[in-house]
Amino acid sequence: MPLRGKFITFEGLDGCGKSTQMEKLAAALRAYGLPVVVTREPGGTPTGEKIRQWLLDTGTSGLAPLAELALMFASRAQHIKEVIHPALAEGRILLCDRFTDSTEAYQGGGRKLSSPPVLALHHILCGDLQPELTILMDSDLTLSVERARRRNKSRTPRNGGKHDENRFEQESRAFFERVRNAYLAIAARETERVVSVDARGTPDETHRKILEIVRRKLKLAARTSS
Ligand code: TYD
Repeated sequence: MPLRGKFITFEGLDGCGKSTQMEKLAAALRAYGLPVVVTREPGGTPTGEKIRQWLLDTGTSGLAPLAELALMFASRAQHIKEVIHPALAEGRILLCDRFTDSTEAYQGGGRKLSSPPVLALHHILCGDLQPELTILMDSDLTLSVERARRRNKSRTPRNGGKHDENRFEQESRAFFERVRNAYLAIAARETERVVSVDARGTPDETHRKILEIVRRKLKLAARTSS
């Protein structure tokens, strides 16, 4: 089935402001009358959201890095089948909060599994599906991770208070430095697809930069209101 839609992913460290930027971009693209779908990984499907709970809950202890890797891809394979392929086949613009670059950065870099196993699984389980465009939000490591920790602490856990999403936020600074370095290596390798955006300004400044990149990619005319 030909995929007529556009697949755009957002990547970056925890707390870099991805969710805010995805919302702003979705609103701007909808104002153009474009059919936009917003989704996320791990998650994005009922099965994927269950896997997300195992992966992110601090109650999950002693998870082997390879098991973590496999669960990320299990969620993704389901997501591709249930959400990503259908949306792209229908010609929609799919904005996805994290995709395989996250696995390469967090499991490959952070957990030191290296890139080749991640890319091999991507080939087998995702048919090498690649986004047309990946926005890599480059942020200050300390500020981002602190923001994510504060945000998750203040969030009411879902499911009657049983689950939280703090497992990755508890990692060390060295872990996040490895994640960041892996992201930079991906950006250096995938120059056609990955665009790095300085996300240290205000949300509106960052939004303007991202909208300009996406407008160029989708060949949309500038709007005076944006
Ligand atoms: P996310 O909800 O995007 O967190 P945040 O809003 O804090 O950026 O992602 C959840 C966590 O899952 C995040 O810490 C990164 C991690 N993750 C991986 O380790 N590997 C992956 O393949 C994916 C998709 C996410």
